[in-house]
Amino acid sequence: MATVTQEKSKGSATSGAKVDARAAMEALNAEAGPLNIWLRTQANAPAQRPWFRDTGIEAAGQLAGGRVGKAQVKAAAHRWRWAEIGPYLDRIAEIARTSDVSPIEFAERQQFLLTNPGFGGRLQVTSTIRCAVSIYNPGDVAPVHIHTPNASRTILSENGGYTTVEGERCEASRGDLILTPHGTWHDHGNDGAAPVVWIDVLDFPLIEYLDCLWLDDEFEGDRLSNSRAQAPTHGTGYSHRLYGEGGLMPGFVSHQRGIGRGANPMIHYRGADVLDALRALAKETGDPYEGITLAFVNPVTGAPVFPTLAYGAQLLRPGEETRWKRETASNFYVCIEGDGFSEIAGQRFDWTRNDMFVAPNFLWRRHVNTGKGDAVLYSVSEAPLMEKIGQYRAQGRLADGTVTELVA
Ligand SMILES: [Fe+2]
Repeated sequence: MATVTQEKSKGSATSGAKVDARAAMEALNAEAGPLNIWLRTQANAPAQRPWFRDTGIEAAGQLAGGRVGKAQVKAAAHRWRWAEIGPYLDRIAEIARTSDVSPIEFAERQQFLLTNPGFGGRLQVTSTIRCAVSIYNPGDVAPVHIHTPNASRTILSENGGYTTVEGERCEASRGDLILTPHGTWHDHGNDGAAPVVWIDVLDFPLIEYLDCLWLDDEFEGDRLSNSRAQAPTHGTGYSHRLYGEGGLMPGFVSHQRGIGRGANPMIHYRGADVLDALRALAKETGDPYEGITLAFVNPVTGAPVFPTLAYGAQLLRPGEETRWKRETASNFYVCIEGDGFSEIAGQRFDWTRNDMFVAPNFLWRRHVNTGKGDAVLYSVSEAPLMEKIGQYRAQGRLADGTVTELVA
């Protein structure tokens, strides 16, 4: 055998026509595809750079090429401009007005979902996060239901619309974060006079991947007279009365919500409170990588609001430029106010009010406030999940460019 190998290698060395190993492997794989196998050698191995060795700011996520590359997915840095996508909500509403189905039938969900170009059309913005933007016209109701994914609403309209969660009615205003933790009965609607718009964020892709997805709409509790929504059992502002004073916890109530384990009982975080809290801290030094930050937390445990997702708000002062940072968790952002840009793996994404963008895991990012006033970003991070599976790490760049471990 040894002789044969030597002969072969001598033959190829003298022939002068070297085979392009990668191309040859791809050709072979095109042929082998129908047999549902993929042939691998070092030459065509999926490219995955050793992240902590490669510290180039412009290094984007790498994928394999060829047949396998087409099927691989990885979040891409991307921005959705509100000026471009927002008008589609009006067009959905216009179709609803002239539709051949009843308004109620049409109205259960009027939304568009964001698709990250890195996922080839899948309904997700990161590996674990799905995001929709919904419009509810006056009279619209999303009937009461319950499901396994954790979900939230970030309110973009100034006022109007509601979500009722386990009997707590939450009246929505801009910047509010309203949670529907897994295993809680909830419904949404608009009983005001003007359309309302909000962002829905869910850990849907993760739950779907885990084959743990279910939804039920056989609600057996008391309903409102229209029979599509649950009857509120607590006065408006219940969450706030119970948990709205930081550091103080009521001792006479159960903190359990719904049937899920450890669901966050703080259902409604008010945008006005978030802005007040950020501004009250604006003269503090802040974090060089993030500015002034606040985490939305479960008041009972201090943990992120969901086991899978962390929600945050950050304020960047006029002219503030954060240092470069990267994490092993993707982040989804929405600009609540102000103007600026974020650089992600060397790409610049300008943002203004209601624009949304994704900073995928592994990629260097920084934020810059270019406006005259404060800029406020809300974020949703996959960090809690990465923490739980022992994969969360973060790095920053000092002013001189030196890379430092932020979380080891
Ligand atoms: Fe839901």
